[in-house]
Amino acid sequence: MKKLALIGCGGIGAYHLEHFMRFTDLSLAGFCDVTVERAEGFVKKAGQGRAFSDYVEMYDKVKPDLVFICVPPACHGNIEFETIKRGIPFFVEKPIALDLDLAGEMAAQVEKHKIIAASGFQCRYDNINDAAKKYIAAGKVLTVQASRVGGIPEVPWWRNKFTSGGQLVEQTIHQMDMLRYLLGTEPDTVYSVAGRGWISQKECPGYYTDDLSTTLITFKNGVTATMMTGCYAKNGVCWESKMIFGARDSRMDYVLCGSVTVYTQGAKTAAKKGKSASVIKGDGVRDKDSEEHVEVTKSEVDFGLLCDRTFVDAAISGNAGKIRSPYGDAYKSVAFTLACNRSMETGLPVKVVY
Ligand SMILES: NC(=O)c1ccc[n+]([C@@H]2O[C@H](COP(=O)([O-])OP(=O)(O)OC[C@H]3O[C@@H](n4cnc5c(N)ncnc54)[C@H](O)[C@@H]3O)[C@@H](O)[C@H]2O)c1
Repeated sequence: MKKLALIGCGGIGAYHLEHFMRFTDLSLAGFCDVTVERAEGFVKKAGQGRAFSDYVEMYDKVKPDLVFICVPPACHGNIEFETIKRGIPFFVEKPIALDLDLAGEMAAQVEKHKIIAASGFQCRYDNINDAAKKYIAAGKVLTVQASRVGGIPEVPWWRNKFTSGGQLVEQTIHQMDMLRYLLGTEPDTVYSVAGRGWISQKECPGYYTDDLSTTLITFKNGVTATMMTGCYAKNGVCWESKMIFGARDSRMDYVLCGSVTVYTQGAKTAAKKGKSASVIKGDGVRDKDSEEHVEVTKSEVDFGLLCDRTFVDAAISGNAGKIRSPYGDAYKSVAFTLACNRSMETGLPVKVVY
């Protein structure tokens, strides 16, 4: 039986543990957290394994066959280099690092040593992506209008941009990653502006990050996009998460981990001869004669479970072919979002360079 280890027994670690407990072909051999009580809590929940506060000691004693690395964004580097040195396949949570040079060095080492490594972009495993990709493959999308608005996570490191990377890098990286994944192209240039001052120290002690940002993106295939995102929502009414893919004769609304809705012109309108099937008339009023055909695809799979299982299978078999978010690709999504941060800092458009 292959031995699995986990480093970082916090919120997302617990999410993965729920999945591991369904993988009866694995031994849950080691749990590590600098706060050892957390690792002990995981051992108790798993009903097996040993707790450690030092991952090197855990590697020496447990000799895991695969490892999940679930530490905060600013804690990457040494753990990965040690894991690569030992040739252990690893799954690491996004963002893989907050320093692009470090992320690039780790990605280069992974490639050089042919380590099977994946990142936690679980949304890539959702069944709705088949419908989305089919729509996009028709080649009609010219623009995307995207948003993600939520609240402030409880974890203390999140409130400081130095330790979290900021809201766009830490959270909206999921949407930015999906833009790359779905469009099948890479970002060329980003221009981001950020806003602060709405969330006070009184409301959130230690808060030092952007409340919101808006980004303009040009992609290499000519598609343009906007991303409006923030953590300012006080309640669910303000919550927002949608990516509207626009074409000249159709539209797709993509709700991350939720649904895909494709709107096309109805057959009745299309059949009308000698009449423009325009949706908007000259004065901006919607053409009442235009009939919509709506096709909805809902999320029906446990994409998080599938994501973890795909990595586990790859680590066991040595075949990484089914991993949808390989480490080197996750590096690109980090580069994409860090370019946005750079643009916020400089006030200038920034080329996304991998
Ligand atoms: N894929 C997703 O949807 C998703 C969701 C939530 C969080 N995340 C990501 O997961 C990562 C962790 O987030 P979280 O919410 O679980 O944070 P957390 O603070 O709840 O847990 C992180 C744990 O790592 C431990 N840790 C830090 N450095 C360590 C080290 N060197 N060795 C051992 N343990 C160490 C901390 O003590 C803590 O218990 C972040 O990068 C976050 O962006 C991903």
